[in-house]
Amino acid sequence: MTTSSSTIESTLIENRVFPPPESLARTARIAGMEAYHALCAEAEKDYEGFWARLAREHLQWTRPFTRTLDATNAPFYQWFADGELNASANCLDKHMGTPTENKTALIFEADDGSVTRVSYKELLARVSQFANALKALGVNKGDRVLIYMPMSIEGVVAMQACARIGATHSVVFGGFSAKAVHERIIDAGAVAVITANYQMRGGKELPLKSIIDEALAMGGCECVRNVLVYQRTATPCAMVAGRDTTFDEALAGQSSVCPPVSVGAEHPLFVLYTSGSTGKPKGVQHSTGGYLLWAKVTMEWTFDIRPEDVFWCTADIGWITGHTYVAYGPLAAGATQIVFEGVPTYPNAARFWQMIERHKCSVFYTAPTAIRSLIKAADTDAAVHPSRFDLSSLRILGSVGEPINPEAWMWYYKNVGGERCPIVDTFWQTETGGHVITPLPGATPLVPGSCTLPLPGIMAAIVDEVGNDIPNGVGGILVIKRPWPSMIRTIWGDPERFKKSYFPEELKGYYLAGDGAVRSADRGYFRITGRIDDVLNVSGHRMGTMEIESALVAKTDLVAEAAVVGRPDDVTGEAICAFVVLKRPLPKGEEAHQIANELRNWVAKEIGPIAKPKDIRFGENLPKTRSGKIMRRLLRSIARGEAITQDTSTLENPAILEQLAQSN
Ligand code: WTA
Repeated sequence: MTTSSSTIESTLIENRVFPPPESLARTARIAGMEAYHALCAEAEKDYEGFWARLAREHLQWTRPFTRTLDATNAPFYQWFADGELNASANCLDKHMGTPTENKTALIFEADDGSVTRVSYKELLARVSQFANALKALGVNKGDRVLIYMPMSIEGVVAMQACARIGATHSVVFGGFSAKAVHERIIDAGAVAVITANYQMRGGKELPLKSIIDEALAMGGCECVRNVLVYQRTATPCAMVAGRDTTFDEALAGQSSVCPPVSVGAEHPLFVLYTSGSTGKPKGVQHSTGGYLLWAKVTMEWTFDIRPEDVFWCTADIGWITGHTYVAYGPLAAGATQIVFEGVPTYPNAARFWQMIERHKCSVFYTAPTAIRSLIKAADTDAAVHPSRFDLSSLRILGSVGEPINPEAWMWYYKNVGGERCPIVDTFWQTETGGHVITPLPGATPLVPGSCTLPLPGIMAAIVDEVGNDIPNGVGGILVIKRPWPSMIRTIWGDPERFKKSYFPEELKGYYLAGDGAVRSADRGYFRITGRIDDVLNVSGHRMGTMEIESALVAKTDLVAEAAVVGRPDDVTGEAICAFVVLKRPLPKGEEAHQIANELRNWVAKEIGPIAKPKDIRFGENLPKTRSGKIMRRLLRSIARGEAITQDTSTLENPAILEQLAQSN
C-alpha cells in the first residue's frame, strides 16, 4: 500500500475522540451535549421564535423588529426587516458606562514587534472622528467605500466608521493586484477609497497607495471622488491634488463624537468579493442585523468568549474571517483582541508562539495552512518549536478556512494546546457570515479532521443531486435547509447569479454550500470533503479555476489556451496547477522555465501573488472530448502525478496526455 492511500485511510477511519475538558464542560456557555441538544430542539420547535429571542438578547435595537423572517421573496430572505440598529453602536457605544469601556479592545502588534493598545472608549472616539471625516467628504448612508488597508487599528477603525454612518464597505485584501482592485471599485461603484501609503510585512515595505493609483488610472472609476491615505511608514507616496487626503488632514478638526446612523436590519453592512465557478468574482452582500447577531452569538458559543479572555484571530480583514472575527464579533462581545500586522514566519517561525506568550492569549484562531508551515519549521529548527514558549494562557484553539488533516490537528492539540485545549474546527464560508458547523468547546467530543455538528439553528444536511437526504457514511452535497439570519443576501448587482449559484431549483430551495461532505456512521459528525465546484482552496484562500484561466489567456501574445486544476499540497492544502497551450512551439528546458515564470508574474499582476500557479505544464493541446470539452479529471490525475486509469477512448487526442505528463 502506498503512503498516500494510508494517509487517506487514517483520515477515513479516525477513531480518536477527545471529550471537552471537565472545567469547560461545566462552565461553558453551552455546557454539555444536553445543553446543545436543548438549543437545537428549541430551534426545531419554533424556528423564528428561537432567532427572535437571540436577536433581542444579543443586539441593541434603536427600533425593535416585529417580524422575524420574511420569506415572501425567497430566496431573497429578510430577517428582522422592520427593526433598526447600528452595527458600530452594537460594537462600541453599548459598552460605554459599563466596566468594558476602559478595557483594552485592541492590542496591536506591528510587524517590528512594537505594541499599541486601544481601549473601548478610545476606539469609539477614533471611529467617531473617522466617521465625521467621511461625512465631511460627502460619504453618505448607502454609499460604498472600498478599503485597501494593512492589518491595523486604522483598518478596523475604517470599517467601523463606515458602519457608523451606514456606508457599505468593501474590503479588498492588500495582496490583490491593481486590476483586481479596479474590477471591484467598478462593480461596487465605490465613492471613496481608504488605503495606506505602504504596508509592512515580514520586514518589507510593500506599496498599497500606488496600486490604488494604478487601479484608478485604468479608467471607468469616475465614481471615486476621494482617496484617504493612512501614512503607515515615513516613505512618501504620490498624492493627487483634490482627490487624495492623508488621514491626518482628514481627521484634523473633526469631532470625536458622531451619533450612529440607525439603519434597517437589512441594510447592507458590507460587500465582500469572493471567487466562484465563473471568471468574475462575486460581491457577497451581507446585512446589518442578521450578520451582526451571528458574529456576536458565535463568539460566545464557539469561542466561549469571557471578559478576561485575550482573543486572537490571525485572519486579515480582507477576508470574511477578518470581518466577523476581527472587525465585528470580538467588539460586539466586548473582548480584548490581538491584531497582528505581520506574518507568522517573521522574524522567525516562532512569532505566533512568542505573541501568545507575550500577550497571554487565551483563545487562538488560525488556519491549517499556517499550522502546517509552522510544523515544518519546528521540525527543522527546535528553537521555533512551541514547546520553547509558555503557552499556558491558552484555553481554546480554533481552525478555519480549509480542512485540517488529522496529523496537523494532533500536532496543534499536543504542542500548542498542551492537550488541554479543545480545537474548534469551524466550517463556514464568506456566504454564511459566521460559523455554521463546528464543535462547541464545552460540549462536543472532538474527532480530529471533523467539524462535527451544526450550530443550533443551522439546518445543515447532506443530500444527493435532487435534494434527497443521504444516509450517514455516504458522501454527498452539503446544504443548509432553512434560511438563517447571517446568510448572504444577494450577489451585489447580480440577483440572478445569486439564485443560480446558491439556490439551484433541483435542490428544493436549500442553500447550496458548494462543498461535498460526509457524516460519520457512528456520531453523525460532518467531515468536509472539499469543493464540488471549480473553486480551489490554496492556503485557505478561495480561488476560482476559471478566474486563473481567464488571467492566463489574457496574455494574448503568448497563451492560446489554458486549463487550471488543483492538486494536494502538504503545506498549502491545495496547489494551483496550470496546463498551457502556447502560441509558439512547445518550449523545453530553460526556455520552458522562463516562460513559466513570465506567466506566474503575469497572473500575479492580473489577480495577485496568491493566484500564481505552482506548476505550469505546457502541451501542444489539451485533452478534449470529440465535442471539444476539456477533460479536467484527466488533468487532475496528471497534476497529481497519478497513472491515468480512466477511460480515454473518447479523447480526441490521447497522445497529448503523455506530453503533458512529461512536461513538468
Ligand atoms: C473551506 C472561509 C473544511 C470550504 C471562512 C468552504 C473549510 C470555503 C473549513 C469557504 C473547515 C472553510 N473545514 N473546509 N473548517 N472552513 N472551508 O469563503 O471549502 O474564504 O466552502 O470562507 O473554505 O472559504 P471562504
